[in-house]
Amino acid sequence: MLNDLEQLSAAARAELKDAADLDRLNQFRVNYLGRKGVLTQKLNSIKDLPPEDRRQAGQALNRVKKELEELFAQKEQELQSGAQAKERGQKIDVTIPGFGLQRGSRHPLSIILEEIVDIFQGMGFQVEEGPDAEDEYHNFGALNFPDEHPARDMQATFYLDGGLILRTHTSPVQIRAMSKLKPPLRVICPGRVYRCDADTSHSPMFHQLEGFMVDTRITFVHLKGVLMEFVKEFFGSEVKTRFRPSFFPFTEPSAEVDIGCMICGGKGCSACKQSGWMEVLGSGMIHPNVLKNVGYDPEAVSGFAFGLGVERLAMLRFRIDHIRIFFENDLRFLKQFY
Ligand code: DAH
Repeated sequence: MLNDLEQLSAAARAELKDAADLDRLNQFRVNYLGRKGVLTQKLNSIKDLPPEDRRQAGQALNRVKKELEELFAQKEQELQSGAQAKERGQKIDVTIPGFGLQRGSRHPLSIILEEIVDIFQGMGFQVEEGPDAEDEYHNFGALNFPDEHPARDMQATFYLDGGLILRTHTSPVQIRAMSKLKPPLRVICPGRVYRCDADTSHSPMFHQLEGFMVDTRITFVHLKGVLMEFVKEFFGSEVKTRFRPSFFPFTEPSAEVDIGCMICGGKGCSACKQSGWMEVLGSGMIHPNVLKNVGYDPEAVSGFAFGLGVERLAMLRFRIDHIRIFFENDLRFLKQFY
């Protein structure tokens, strides 16, 4: 029986080597290793041997069976991975369109801000920036806000630990830029600002663009000329505008500019609070106290300043009636802009 076994083992190995596919391999398993396979039969017949031969025969049979089982497992793996590769190869359909890359798009506020900056740069203005976390002096004091001025109110301003606040407007950048630079100046300062305020046209965080011009003999005519030029470039020459007298501590005289509401065409809607007009910017001649605070001589130089709301302009341009939609990150909205 042991002589037989070596022959059997050699034949089995040769057959295994030749097995070219999983069907043939399965046949091999049935023939040799299965319940009715040759090896199993031989193991079952050990009991018919004389007792002194059983042990040796059992060990030899088990060794061969184990070797063949290992070789079988190896071959099975080889054939399976080959079959998978073949299957994969057959499944590639080169005519199916690819997935492509999802294109991002620019945020509508970025588009508008870039456009605004571009218009002012065209008129010779340079860009300056300042910090979002500002001190009270730059945000209020240097801008001629009296200590008890209501704009400093806790309810409108975010106070931070350590005496800083989140700037409530971009006007403090006027102070920083004027302290750093010398006239003649034409400067714009875009940035985020923060107030405890929220309704259809107010958000706790929004964007402003500050601008100012300082030189000898700058008058209200320059202010009006620059702002009207901007409005015409941004909205087109047909747009309706009005200058309204106003008050800001850091300008004297002061004016606000309203644009005929383009969302409702002037009839009145929620965005313009039924007035038909939307306030888009504040402006005025820089107050002599502000010029003094940055070390300028108000007798020698004068200037105008303005601050405009970027969201307001974007709402008018895109005819959007609620400010909140800019910050909800809804792709269905954002993807309409690029
Ligand atoms: N800082 C003002 C605000 O946030 C806007 C403003 C008004 C800025 C008049 C100016 C200005 O520079 O001259 O409401």
